[in-house]
Amino acid sequence: MSRAVVLGGTGLIGCATARRLLAAGWEVTVIGRDSSRMPEDIALAGGRFVAADRGEPGRLAAALGGGADLVVDCLCFTAAHARDLLPLLDDVGSTVMISSKAVYVDAAGNHVNSAVAPVFDGPIRESQPTMAPREDVDYRTRDGYGANKVAAERVLLDSGHPVTVLRPSKVHGEGSAKPGEWVFVKRVADRREVLLLSRGGRGVDHPSAAGNIAALIETAAENRGRRVLNCADPDAPDALAISRTVAKHLGHRWEEVLLDDHAPAGLGLHPWDRIPGIRLDMTAAGRLGYRPAGDYATTVTAELDWLVSTDRLPAGFDHDFAPMLDYAAEDAYLAAR
Ligand SMILES: NC(=O)c1ccc[n+]([C@@H]2O[C@H](COP(=O)([O-])OP(=O)(O)OC[C@H]3O[C@@H](n4cnc5c(N)ncnc54)[C@H](OP(=O)(O)O)[C@@H]3O)[C@@H](O)[C@H]2O)c1
Repeated sequence: MSRAVVLGGTGLIGCATARRLLAAGWEVTVIGRDSSRMPEDIALAGGRFVAADRGEPGRLAAALGGGADLVVDCLCFTAAHARDLLPLLDDVGSTVMISSKAVYVDAAGNHVNSAVAPVFDGPIRESQPTMAPREDVDYRTRDGYGANKVAAERVLLDSGHPVTVLRPSKVHGEGSAKPGEWVFVKRVADRREVLLLSRGGRGVDHPSAAGNIAALIETAAENRGRRVLNCADPDAPDALAISRTVAKHLGHRWEEVLLDDHAPAGLGLHPWDRIPGIRLDMTAAGRLGYRPAGDYATTVTAELDWLVSTDRLPAGFDHDFAPMLDYAAEDAYLAAR
């Protein structure tokens, strides 16, 4: 039986990966710090939880034990994190490092976390230029996140080991720490009869289902090699289509008010408001043999069903979305129409 170790395995991408590999007959070890985050279904399916901090290389080596056929690193944010892995990789068949589309820059050097939004001239390929690698800036900052990811990618790719770097876009799935769809789910729960969408809801920020990322991880494991791959859903619906998918799945109807550029600032905000839209080219993954688990509407149900059923929403959750759920401002605008 093939053995996989998933670092950060109790999180959004890690859980989807563990579920996928267990269903395919792998032996799966899930690494996290807090055993209470280990989902019951993964344990019941045979997943083993090992408590270890990714920041303590000794603990990482112990958790890996005699090696593995596959290591999936969901917690590799810096070159230092990547270097911690290197001594362990002689005993690892292949490694998948989860990077991000945040590494890409447009012709003017802008990226998704820039003050100025990037303008890409079509779906982004893996050959698109990236930010310069940096280790001198905190990876938890807007300028540091992508630059540190590039530095981490290079350490692993330059090591000579069979490493697949995956660059997902906006990830959705059960257990998300920041599920964008919440802006629509919450409105359904509050029985809102009107939905306002800025810029006509035409914004696009390519979704990546955690289940689709897991499918590509399995494909990468079946095809040892060294490569970089985009990782997004087979379709890239705009915000209007996403709102309709959520409302339909939850059995709700609302009047759509599609705001134009003259609408008051701050109204109809949502997480996909990128024009021109951001789309990832998935040709390279397809060539490797990747078959997505499903399109956006099919795969997002995992997150939607979780959001309406769970009593364990992430801390600080409502605060992050508050500007997108300003009902008082919306009602005032609608009353003055
Ligand atoms: N989410 C997105 O939209 C998105 C988009 C693009 C790229 N990515 C990349 O995808 C990767 C995974 O993201 P995710 O959204 O799946 O993360 P997540 O849901 O936040 O999960 C991270 C998991 O790792 C565990 N963990 C955190 N620190 C740890 C440590 N020091 N040692 C061991 N375990 C630790 C956490 O559990 P404990 O706290 O209990 O340890 C948690 O279960 C990240 O590298 C991120 O940059 C994410």
